[in-house]
Amino acid sequence: MQQPPGSFEQQAALLLSQMTLKEKANEMHGEGLKKLVIGILTRGHLLPVHAGGSKRLGIPSISFTDGPRGVGTAVSTNFPVTMARGASWDADLEKRIGEAMGTEARCAGANYSGAVCINLLRHPSWGRSQETYGEDPWHLGEMGSALVTGIQKHNVMACLKHFALNSIENSRFLIDVNVDERSLHEVYLPHFKKCIEAGAASVMTAYNKVGGEYCGENKYLLSNVLRNEWGFRGFITSDWFWGVRNTEKGIKAGMNVEMPSKKFYKFSKIKKLLNEGKITMEDIDKLALPFIRTKLEWASRKDFMNYTKNLLACDAHRNLARETAEKSAVLLKNENVILPLKKDAIRKLAIVGSVAKTKNDGDHASSKVKSPYVVTPYDGIKNYLGSEVEILYAGENDLEGIRRISREADAVIVVAGFKYTEEGEYIHLLGKRSKPGKLPLLAKLGIASKGDRVPLALHERDLKVIKVVTSVTDKAIVCLAGGGAITMEGWKEKVSAILMTFYNGMEGGNALARILFGDVSPSGKLPFTIPQNESDLPFFDSYADKIAYEYYHGYTLFDKFKKKPAFPFGFGLSYTTFFYSNLQVLTAVVKAHNDVVRISVDVENTGSVSGEEIIQVYIGFSKSKIDRPVKLLRGFKKIWLTPGEKKTASFEIKTADLSYYDVLSGCWMVELMEHEVFAGKSSVEEDLPGAVFTVN
Ligand code: BGC
Repeated sequence: MQQPPGSFEQQAALLLSQMTLKEKANEMHGEGLKKLVIGILTRGHLLPVHAGGSKRLGIPSISFTDGPRGVGTAVSTNFPVTMARGASWDADLEKRIGEAMGTEARCAGANYSGAVCINLLRHPSWGRSQETYGEDPWHLGEMGSALVTGIQKHNVMACLKHFALNSIENSRFLIDVNVDERSLHEVYLPHFKKCIEAGAASVMTAYNKVGGEYCGENKYLLSNVLRNEWGFRGFITSDWFWGVRNTEKGIKAGMNVEMPSKKFYKFSKIKKLLNEGKITMEDIDKLALPFIRTKLEWASRKDFMNYTKNLLACDAHRNLARETAEKSAVLLKNENVILPLKKDAIRKLAIVGSVAKTKNDGDHASSKVKSPYVVTPYDGIKNYLGSEVEILYAGENDLEGIRRISREADAVIVVAGFKYTEEGEYIHLLGKRSKPGKLPLLAKLGIASKGDRVPLALHERDLKVIKVVTSVTDKAIVCLAGGGAITMEGWKEKVSAILMTFYNGMEGGNALARILFGDVSPSGKLPFTIPQNESDLPFFDSYADKIAYEYYHGYTLFDKFKKKPAFPFGFGLSYTTFFYSNLQVLTAVVKAHNDVVRISVDVENTGSVSGEEIIQVYIGFSKSKIDRPVKLLRGFKKIWLTPGEKKTASFEIKTADLSYYDVLSGCWMVELMEHEVFAGKSSVEEDLPGAVFTVN
């Protein structure tokens, strides 16, 4: 039987009273780099890194594994990147992925996972876009908590990262983000709070500064917000190597464990500060207690299965990776219903584009997963078609070849986009910023990425291919690989179909073939806005020392300033069509406190194939007396409908979720006024029938 939480607190306090200073200091840092190096040299992947633990006192240690698209400390299942999963808008699927990741983490000997990256995509140029779910805090919170629940089911502690406001890569080690309190609470933090409410055991701090203080030394964020406002009882670890830069500040701020090694939280440094009276034993105990308590609590949980190595990348998990890739592709354009392709109408199919033959699974830095294989788009399509259809291929530099085969083929698949060297995590071994115009060393060596992706358009190599293909055929289908938004001005009108596939994991090529030939209908929707002009996005500077994060970004910015995106947040087509009707507010009047708005909407499949539809619910604030977004996402649901089938989808929205953060009182306020409710297929007005309800 599980013990009441109080007793773990008492046990931890008792243990602390028996510990030497050295033992306490040992609870404040990771074990070091040896295993990282050994892992890479002997197996080609990292090994779990431990922190804390005492044999003498029976204190367990944590054993860390990354990361967002699968377990990085074994040969394991390589899932589509988090952003792809964000496009699935499927929290149940995300929970199942979490369960698979939790299982595989245990098989790899880990009990602490860095999979849950929930930084808000303020600007799509962020190099690590692929590791998070998108631009909207509500959506981030729902998807992130589903992952937390899935992972933790297997007694693996989930670590939320990176706390907070980490969304520019090239200057991540140094940049100082300034944000007003309202934007912080309403835009940049709610998803962290939701995941903590879902039970996340741990939080990792970000590298950047917020309000002049490094996040790992930021008392306001770690103590005031996380511990005091939100009542977080788990433990906080630093981001690796440069997450803390000052022992005293880290300790005073409440940062529990320095990872992965003792650079600033060294016994000698801690002892010196104690002797100088700059920190107290109480400060140390305050840090060690939640760490020990959480570990004791988790160690007491019973496993309900055995974690044997054969579960790593097992058939069930590979199938889940394929299902995920199928459910996360976003169909952005499908003129004259060119898709799905009909196998018996195609004799010759051309496959071109710079990443058609690339094992394009995403970043190779901390989120890298070593999987048994990665199916490329070319191989996936070829395997799917067998010998019945002739496949024509020409490399991206062979423009004449591309022209010739495009003329010959019945359809042309252009697989365009980016690779791990071109966007992703930026690593500087000394914790510095990369220099404008200079490729960082690891990117130069082709080992890691250059960081942020500026600008958002495709490279010339793909633009040339698209130009040649569209000059000779109207059967061009562009499949895009990338971690997030790619602008398409200048060519999107000229191609027949556009399918956003992200970095879609080890089974990506197989999933792509099944989508293109109609075994599955695409059901993903964009978890971000794709602009026509990048100038419509918030200010972004990869190399900035300082930046101000504002209240509006993504669809709230486009709504507010009536800008027209190329493709709006929440947009995605299907091989079938859905008709929305009968939006009803079942609670026309609600109370401000502890009440619920109940709404329902009918959705009918009006096409000829089965498919899934993501229904989105937004709340509008046009009657507000203060500055508020035009509307905010407050619910979503994915439903499966066969042709002709109609279902009623119901939503309950807590009145607390209508509130704004009042800076003067430090309280969340619900406005007594009429609110609009919109339910529909994307975030744009024409897709969203509306109704109203009143809070009084
Ligand atoms: C990344 C984290 C990651 C850690 C350990 C850091 O560089 O920012 O996301 O969890 O490395 O791999």
